[in-house]
Amino acid sequence: MLAALYYLNQAMTADSIQNELQAIRNASLYRSLRRVENDQGPTLMLDGREVINFSSNNYLGIANHPALAEAAKKAIDRYGCGSGASRLISGNMTLHEELETKLAAFKGSEAALVFNSGFQANTGILSTLAGDGDAILSDALNHASIIDGCRLSRAKTIVYAHGALHQLEEGLKQVTSARRKLIVTESIFSMDGDEAPLGGIVELAEKYDAMVMVDEAHATGIFGTNGAGVVAKLGLAERVAVQMGTLGKALGGFGAYIAGSCALRELLINRCRSFIFTTSLPPAVMAMAIAAIDLVEREPERREILWKNCRALQEGLKNLGFSPGESQSPIMPIIIGDVTKCMQFSERLLEKGVFAQGIRPPTVPPGTSRLRITLMATHTRDHIDRAIEAFRQVKEKS
Ligand SMILES: Cc1ncc(COP(=O)(O)O)c(C=O)c1O
Repeated sequence: MLAALYYLNQAMTADSIQNELQAIRNASLYRSLRRVENDQGPTLMLDGREVINFSSNNYLGIANHPALAEAAKKAIDRYGCGSGASRLISGNMTLHEELETKLAAFKGSEAALVFNSGFQANTGILSTLAGDGDAILSDALNHASIIDGCRLSRAKTIVYAHGALHQLEEGLKQVTSARRKLIVTESIFSMDGDEAPLGGIVELAEKYDAMVMVDEAHATGIFGTNGAGVVAKLGLAERVAVQMGTLGKALGGFGAYIAGSCALRELLINRCRSFIFTTSLPPAVMAMAIAAIDLVEREPERREILWKNCRALQEGLKNLGFSPGESQSPIMPIIIGDVTKCMQFSERLLEKGVFAQGIRPPTVPPGTSRLRITLMATHTRDHIDRAIEAFRQVKEKS
């Protein structure tokens, strides 16, 4: 009898999962994993064929740099592989603190704290800093981890139109009685590559007594004179309460950080659930990040080459009649609109050896499906010319 109930329950579960999968397929939103068989360079062995990689956030091309690999190996030899526990138990190792000291100096902040991923950082910080009785004002194009952080916090959340300072101000006027007000924005938007109006945001925050949190996931390592990000580039470090960024994109490793005051660091250590209740990052990952920051500071020429590559591809695509955006960032969206057409365009490029991932809802708003092209400092002129030629051929046939 029990066994029969068990099998009935299994069958019903399988049916409901299949139904949901079919609905995803029907909406052309079905996703599957592609397999990379080599290291993360400008070319990839993708599902058995060589393609030029225009779909990575490894903007400086250092994810496979020997200096990072060497640092990781040495850390394993000295400290072993795992950290064994969360930071507040026995997992707070020398390298965590060394990296945090380095990050604070890099970002020009009083203190820094490392997180296991950007997703965990955003959900954790927002739900620590805001709760019942507080208000969060969030840009409409903020990343899923910020959206989820707002939801988790239970604070009143006002979503303002992308980059619209007047709407942000209207929102701030609506929440004057909130206990704490927090404005959250990305500095370089992950799917559009444009820059937030941080100067205006900071001014509004000061006018309405709000805190500012900036997600520098796509700016860390590549903006500002030392690569610290857009906040540093604009000289706003002292006026932004929380700078968050990732170690897994331009820094080529894994994990995330926040930079801010010592008090913020202390509060997160005491209250932030995604910091407290998780095993800390292993020593090798910390050592890689330390080596990556050294590289970023020591080799500004990587950023110069990246910008040169961006200009070359942007110009080539514009000459073909595409609109890759005007902003200077390594993220170039080519908006196609329709989901099916977008994925077809991406597949046709892939057939020509160019990997430019199609991005669909819910990652981007409905009707704005796009190819998200990303540049790396390690792309050569030949890679860029071959991409432009592939775009020309696919456009001609579509
Ligand atoms: C803007 C932004 N914030 C946060 C994250 C999450 O970072 P991580 O990949 O380290 O979890 C991403 C990653 O895609 C992102 O684009």
